[in-house]
Amino acid sequence: MAAQRWDPHLYDDRHAYVAHHGGDLIGELDPRPGERILDAGCGTGELTAALADTGAKVLGVDSSPQMIDRARQRFPHLDLRVADLRELDVETGFDAVLSNAVLHWIPEAPAAAAALAGALRPGGRLVAELGGSGNIAAIRGAARALRTELGLPAAAETWYFPTIEEYSAVLTDAGLEITGAWLFDRPTRLEGDDGLAAWLRMFGAPLLAEVPDPDAFATRLSDRLRPLLHHSGSWWADYRRLRITAAKPG
Ligand code: BEZ
Repeated sequence: MAAQRWDPHLYDDRHAYVAHHGGDLIGELDPRPGERILDAGCGTGELTAALADTGAKVLGVDSSPQMIDRARQRFPHLDLRVADLRELDVETGFDAVLSNAVLHWIPEAPAAAAALAGALRPGGRLVAELGGSGNIAAIRGAARALRTELGLPAAAETWYFPTIEEYSAVLTDAGLEITGAWLFDRPTRLEGDDGLAAWLRMFGAPLLAEVPDPDAFATRLSDRLRPLLHHSGSWWADYRRLRITAAKPG
């Protein structure tokens, strides 16, 4: 998969909800002071810093050098590194791994799961949240229809939005025991009247492949989705989350 270029300022300015929603995961993980924790896919470091504030010793990794640069500017005291979750090359023996809103960007799910399992010590625990089966179905459906109308080829849509059963099997094959799994709708507010267009600029590269005028495409997509995804004065992305917890047998 070609490396995606991320805009960390657009991420922090308009998409801070990614880390805010992930805050729940810290409660689920229940970090204890002194524990070694890997934040797998740390973005600009918000959750890594929150984990460190609990007294844990945290390593944050992200495949995007731009995101890590920004995370280092924001949190110079943290251990933050560029690393690809498919071929993670960091120390092992972590007490816990947390991963928020990242694993759906990695279609090579078994490789990522093996790396996360390999990073854990026996008895260590994983808390992960990603887009689940049915995630952004309305956005994807409308983008597909618009692409067809514009005579564009079908987009590859390289995201991975598994069911509970599919992802449980991936983690089990990687040697982990599933301790909990939830699939739930989380309509997610996108700030601003151009909220959907900004989301598309930030995250929509798989839907915009070969689109000659991405801004015009975003406008037409927004017009089309407004009756469905704009209400109560805001845009709402039709997110569906898969949250899963697992442990490495001791
Ligand atoms: C998500 O967090 O579910 C997501 C974000 C961007 C693109 C696709 C899905």
